[in-house]
Amino acid sequence: MTKTIVANFKMNGSREFISTYFEHLVAATNNTVVICPPFPYLDQVNQCLSQRSFANVYLGAQNCYGEVSGAFTGETSASMLADIGCQYVILGHSERRLLRSETSEVVRQKVFQAWQANLIPIICVGESLQQRQEGIAKQLISSQLKASIPEKISPQHAYLIAYEPIWAIGTGLTAIQNDIETMHQFIRSHPMGKNVPILYGGSVNGDNAQHILSYKNVDGVLVGGASLKIHEFNRIISR
Ligand code: PGA
Repeated sequence: MTKTIVANFKMNGSREFISTYFEHLVAATNNTVVICPPFPYLDQVNQCLSQRSFANVYLGAQNCYGEVSGAFTGETSASMLADIGCQYVILGHSERRLLRSETSEVVRQKVFQAWQANLIPIICVGESLQQRQEGIAKQLISSQLKASIPEKISPQHAYLIAYEPIWAIGTGLTAIQNDIETMHQFIRSHPMGKNVPILYGGSVNGDNAQHILSYKNVDGVLVGGASLKIHEFNRIISR
């Protein structure tokens, strides 16, 4: 089955990095691949994608604003992202929830704007280590899903959910199979998780990706650090 592999470059890269990256990206993959560079490089990545006419590789952004347009200095609207060729946008990443105090209500507005612009949001949810130890992980994920995702107004309003336990992001500590399958099953049974691709994120790399992609209810992976190393990322997307 086709899986979705998302590369989240976070705040990394340069023009030179991007051009070398796309010289080496493998062209043929059975997976859907979404590359999410920082805003200044979206157009460059878009051009690289059209120059080498990659099949199944799409452009995504790492954020958008929750309003259509106006006096919002420094912000970028969903329609601007669509205008320059984005098809996807990552929303509600834990780094934004924690570092930018983004609440699920803010994420919900952004998801709504993404839909208005015909973008596909990749909506991130995940618990901290403390919340897991306190036994409230499922409760938290459930409320994040409920509050971050508006009721679909049209069947065309597609989205993906990325389950990213915060303690596994950038730490080298991947969640174990049982934890991932249990949480993905829980998300699948949630009203917001029915018939929606559910991705796992958190220290996915070239060595563990194929294994994780074979787990039940794992429809793809969201890759941070390892997506910056092109040869490692090629291993993740080639199946
Ligand atoms: P990581 O990041 O792969 O570096 O753990 C994943 C993410 O934050 O999306």
